[in-house]
Amino acid sequence: MSRNADDLAALIRARAGDAPVRLGLILGSGLGHLADAVKGVAIPYADLEGFPHAGVSGHNPNLVVGTLEGQRVAVFGGRAHYYESGRADAMRLPLEVLVALGADTMIATNAAGSLRPDMATGELMLLSDHINFSGLNPLIGEPSDARFVPMTQAYDPALRAALKAAAKAEDVALHDGVYAWYSGPSFETPAEIRAIRTLGADAVGMSTVPEVILARFLGLKVAALSTITNMAAGLGTEAISHEHTKAMAPLGAAKLERVLRQYLQKME
Ligand code: HPA
Repeated sequence: MSRNADDLAALIRARAGDAPVRLGLILGSGLGHLADAVKGVAIPYADLEGFPHAGVSGHNPNLVVGTLEGQRVAVFGGRAHYYESGRADAMRLPLEVLVALGADTMIATNAAGSLRPDMATGELMLLSDHINFSGLNPLIGEPSDARFVPMTQAYDPALRAALKAAAKAEDVALHDGVYAWYSGPSFETPAEIRAIRTLGADAVGMSTVPEVILARFLGLKVAALSTITNMAAGLGTEAISHEHTKAMAPLGAAKLERVLRQYLQKME
């Protein structure tokens, strides 16, 4: 754990209170409004030295620490993507801070393109696994042997079961699937989509995988959820764009919020 993470955690506690955080939630494109639902203190990333400048429109660059459905949470209203800086480890410090605040769980959310005809825009997918299609890794350069992180059960089975139960209780359809990380920022070509479909991907996006690797490195339990904002390149008729992603994300976001609230209510 870097010294910086402990210092930042102390700063955050001074503003948001000492009670330990249980869970961290990372919000994807167009999903930022969930941060507003938290009763707590919003700290701009700009006040947290070393935090990314969340420069992607549709992201809300605050860390909100407070209570949601009775649980103490830290909500990251923006994430850093590899394509912004060329650094795959840009979320390392925020996740170290999350651990320093006491959390043992990270739930990441993202907007993604669907590779499956039965998974439409506005629907939700719970990641069962991922494919790192970028070849990049946030732990390149990490000197300790801890860098050899097992990824066999990266997405925690018990946490996934609890999220599925929450979706069921809310009557929200939750697909299970494999997410492929594509570096971005350009979208994929239809040929690339056919290639990753053949490799076993169900959805594609430009985030989440580096955070999942870092979170496992830091010993956090992990789950991740995608809101489908479009059919991936070559599979649908709509034009794929960031504007479209932001416009479609709210369709899934409302369901995602219900699932997460239900999960938090039942959290042991
Ligand atoms: N590809 C990559 N990232 C995305 C997509 C997509 O089709 N949709 C939303 N984020």
